Amino acid sequence: MIGVFDSGSGGLSVLREMVKAMPSEEYVYFSDNAHCPYGEKSPEYIRDRARSITERLLGEGCDIIVVACNTATAAAIGTLRKEYSNEFSEQSRLRVLGLTGGRRDHVRFIGMEPAVKPAALRSATGVIGVLATAGTLKGSKYLTAKGNYHNGCRIVERVGKGFVELVESLDVSGPHAGQVVRESLQPLLDEGADTIVLGCTHYPFLLGTMQKIAGPSIRFIDPAPAVTRRLMEVMQQDGIPVRQGPSKSPKVLLLSSGPDDTLKSLAAKVL
Ligand code: DGL
Repeated sequence: MIGVFDSGSGGLSVLREMVKAMPSEEYVYFSDNAHCPYGEKSPEYIRDRARSITERLLGEGCDIIVVACNTATAAAIGTLRKEYSNEFSEQSRLRVLGLTGGRRDHVRFIGMEPAVKPAALRSATGVIGVLATAGTLKGSKYLTAKGNYHNGCRIVERVGKGFVELVESLDVSGPHAGQVVRESLQPLLDEGADTIVLGCTHYPFLLGTMQKIAGPSIRFIDPAPAVTRRLMEVMQQDGIPVRQGPSKSPKVLLLSSGPDDTLKSLAAKVL
């Protein structure tokens, strides 16, 4: 079973791609909306949340976990892999002894990748924009991707201020959403960016509004399909059956740490 988590409903933009590619798989999605947003929180705080969500997902029987959150990937994926993927770790030992949940002694974690590389390869103006949270933009994963894959492009960055709140309140296309989105997006367009990386899993839900503001010539890159391909590769490498066959309705268990209205209504729309 595949576990997926995010600070809120944003990770559904990743789950949507996974369900498209593997409709017969079983998923558990955890929205940590009682602690959302993660964007400005400390890496320690996010690591603690990631640990406790991981325990919950293992308890549900997940053996592969997709961290469908760029901010949590930046803060916690190294720690999660160290504590849960190593068969000699204390957590793994307890699981083998049957003292904690989870079926296996080797949990796999798939994280979000900042899509700097594909953006830099496609940009005609040589300027790419990155929209992400403060935590992601400060993280070493992003800084390394930027250093390795800029391909000579200039990179301009902005925090999508208020974007997560828009998605969590299901206000993604009205005049208010337009105003909030324009504030962070316009500076990237003014700098000449023609390709914009969506570095937060909530942002794809605002794509319609962004595209309306930016116009049809601006390309937005959502890393969800690439993350899904990576997930399937890891499953194949590890001999986990990849269930691509047809399914009438996807099997998704939705869990959250706070009220689940947004999660349910967004999931009903996208899955
Ligand atoms: N959806 C998240 C991300 O990809 C987290 C946003 C937040 O909680 O600030 O970064």
